[in-house]
Parts: sequence; structure tokens; C-alpha cells
Amino acid sequence: MRHFVQQLREEHEEMIQLLGLLSREERRMEQGEEPQYPVMLDILLYMTHHPDLFHHPREELMFARICQRLEQPSELIEQLREEHRINGQRSLKLLDMLRAVVNGSLVSQEELGEACHEYVRGQRLHIAREESGLYRLAEAHLTEEDWESLDVDAEKRANPFADKLRRRYLDFYQEICRASEVKPLHTH
Ligand SMILES: [Fe+2]
Ligand SMILES: [Fe+2]
Repeated sequence: MRHFVQQLREEHEEMIQLLGLLSREERRMEQGEEPQYPVMLDILLYMTHHPDLFHHPREELMFARICQRLEQPSELIEQLREEHRINGQRSLKLLDMLRAVVNGSLVSQEELGEACHEYVRGQRLHIAREESGLYRLAEAHLTEEDWESLDVDAEKRANPFADKLRRRYLDFYQEICRASEVKPLHTH
């Protein structure tokens, strides 16, 4: 497993950190203060791109492997797949609202705060479900051969362009942390 899952875990930790920063802005709005719109926009730009490029494809590989091993459909995996879809829509909606703010459109802080809250809640729930249920399911059903094959599949997708892009997103993540005055969790 283990490298495969370790990488997913580290990405979850980074996402949780960014969601925490988004919540901080949401609290600012609740207190009637002006949030840091550029930070919010950057977080959403990151969250609507990085997971779809690097995180979800590897989870989908894992889902498919587990489904092959199970003798019946997995409700958890169906739910996680559905959440990828719903959370994806929610994040695009929030990104659109932030774009509208940047363009000077009138978006009430209440509406923005609510969208933010729903988005953060959905993402946190999803990550918690994966951390508590998915890895257990994988440990219980995947064989050593499956883990090796997952690593091979993941390696097949690695290429210089993907590496460069990954590096660029890591820089972006670190920049968001700097702008929010928090320490990045990972720098590799
Ligand atoms: Fe996921
Ligand atoms: Fe995940």
C-alpha cells in the first residue's frame, strides 16, 4: 500500500489545511469583516484543479481495484464517487461566485458565506469518509499484487509534464500558505 495511500493522505492534509483557511475567511465574513477575496479565489482555483489532476484519478484507480475484489457492489465507493461529482459542482459554483465578486458583481456576504460553509463541510466529510472507511476497505480486500499494480498504474501516468505541473501546484499551495501566514505542511 503504502506509498500509494501515504501520498493520498498527504494530499488530504493539504486540502484540510486549505479548507481551514477558507473557514477562517468565512468567519471573517460572519463577523462583518471583509474577507481576503484573493486568498479565497486562489484556494478555489487550487481545489478545482489539483485534485482532479492528481488526487481523484489515483483514488478512482483504487475504487476500481476494490470493486474488482468485492463480490458485491460497495455502497461506500458509490457514495464517494457521487461525492466527487457533487463536491466538484459545489466547488465550481463557489469559484463562479468569487469570480463574480472580482468582477464587481454584487454577491451578498451571506450568500457567499453559506456557499463556503456548504463547500467546506462537504469536502471535510468526504475526506473523513475516505480516511476512515476507504483505506480500511482497501486494506481488507486488496492483495499485495493489487498494491503493486496500483503503483505501476500510477507510475505509468507519471511523465515530465505531470511532474512539472505537480511542482507548479506545490508552489501555488505554498504561496497560498504564505499569503495566509501559515506554514506549508509539505514542501517536497
Ligand atoms: Fe475522494
Ligand atoms: Fe481524497
